[in-house]
Amino acid sequence: MKKKSEMLAIKGGKPVWNGVWPKWPEITEKELSKVIEVMKSERWAISGPSLGKISWEKKFSIAFAKYCGVNYCVPTCNGTSALLIALEALNIGYGDEVIVPILTWVATASAVTNVNAIPVFVDVDPKTLCVSPEAINSAITPNTKAIIPVHLYSGMADMDKLSKISSQNEIPIIEDCSHVHGALWRESPAGSIGKIGTFSMQQTKVLTAGEGGATVTNEKSLANYMEQLRADGRIFKKGVNILGEMDIVKMGDLQGNNYCLTEYQAALLYEKLKTLDLQHEKRWKNAKILDKLLLEIDGIVPLSTYKSVKKRVYYRYVFKINSKKIKDKSIEVICGLLSSELGISVEPIYKPLNQSKIYNPLSKKRFHINEEHIRKLKTQDLNFHKAEKAYNSFVSLPHRVLLGNYEHLQAIADAITKVLENISNL
Ligand SMILES: Cc1ncc(COP(=O)(O)O)c(C=O)c1O
Repeated sequence: MKKKSEMLAIKGGKPVWNGVWPKWPEITEKELSKVIEVMKSERWAISGPSLGKISWEKKFSIAFAKYCGVNYCVPTCNGTSALLIALEALNIGYGDEVIVPILTWVATASAVTNVNAIPVFVDVDPKTLCVSPEAINSAITPNTKAIIPVHLYSGMADMDKLSKISSQNEIPIIEDCSHVHGALWRESPAGSIGKIGTFSMQQTKVLTAGEGGATVTNEKSLANYMEQLRADGRIFKKGVNILGEMDIVKMGDLQGNNYCLTEYQAALLYEKLKTLDLQHEKRWKNAKILDKLLLEIDGIVPLSTYKSVKKRVYYRYVFKINSKKIKDKSIEVICGLLSSELGISVEPIYKPLNQSKIYNPLSKKRFHINEEHIRKLKTQDLNFHKAEKAYNSFVSLPHRVLLGNYEHLQAIADAITKVLENISNL
């Protein structure tokens, strides 16, 4: 494309795109009717009396376990609580260390501090932005009790290398699959490779009920444990539910918390799961087209993933901009320019947690155990060069842009071209 000077939208020029973007979240009449059905019933939560039939929560848990290729699923009210019960089920707490990638949403780390353990941060593979297996190897100590790889944005962590590290060191893996419901590492679904997989069904996620979460596992004992942990120590009783009676019973084995998903969220997730793969396919096809369009722009490279990712799932579409192309402008400025050209929020990737405002474990008194514990929670002076460099060069778009048509994709490419060509006019 030949260079031409154009007024940037942010300076009053005509934006590249002023049409509509696909809606997110979507709701079909069928999904809506299921939610209404639950609202009209007298059961809104598993903590309410039984209607004499299987709860939506249980129905969803069976369907989601099957989707993830595992034996068990324990739904939760969000992805954070899914991580919490996974950690608690593995008996992780004070004095323990959990390896966490520095590039992730804050909840992956705050779940660890919430069980009073120490997140030990490690750097990422700059090509995939997922956790670096080599960095994990150097971070293992006798106190390491779990590794939480995050399958980030549209990729998966290197599960071959991680599984090897896990078995050699006898350290369990909790896969944080909040971004990749349904992705495949060769034939294995995300969440089925580690000991436990956790998911978020928060509003922006590819499978959503506004809020929601789940853990998945193949181990019955862990599933039972997590079932109790998320329902104040209660568990589903066996056999047919009797109308009007509670079908979760008190066990007394352990103390839990209330992290239950509501019945209307579960019904919505159950219905939405049926169309998830169709949407994945659409996003995947559009991502391929967008990859091609962006590769034609000098200095732009779409985020890559490992070859073993057989089915790639897009939570956010991420690409890298060569730093020479953005001159002295920050990535935040570039995202702002792209947002105003496209009329949709274009964002940088996660801020590495050592630099993030919202990762602040020492803001809570209950984490102040002793000087040693406090020292280990301090991350401000640590360096994660790869993640920090990545933050300044990657840009991300919400997955709804991939639910549109060719015009939407072309607009994205045109907006990037326009911004890069006119950046000196700012
Ligand atoms: C990677 C990752 N882990 C955990 C979570 C926490 O999920 P939730 O917001 O449902 O508690 C999120 C949510 O954004 C996430 O992106």
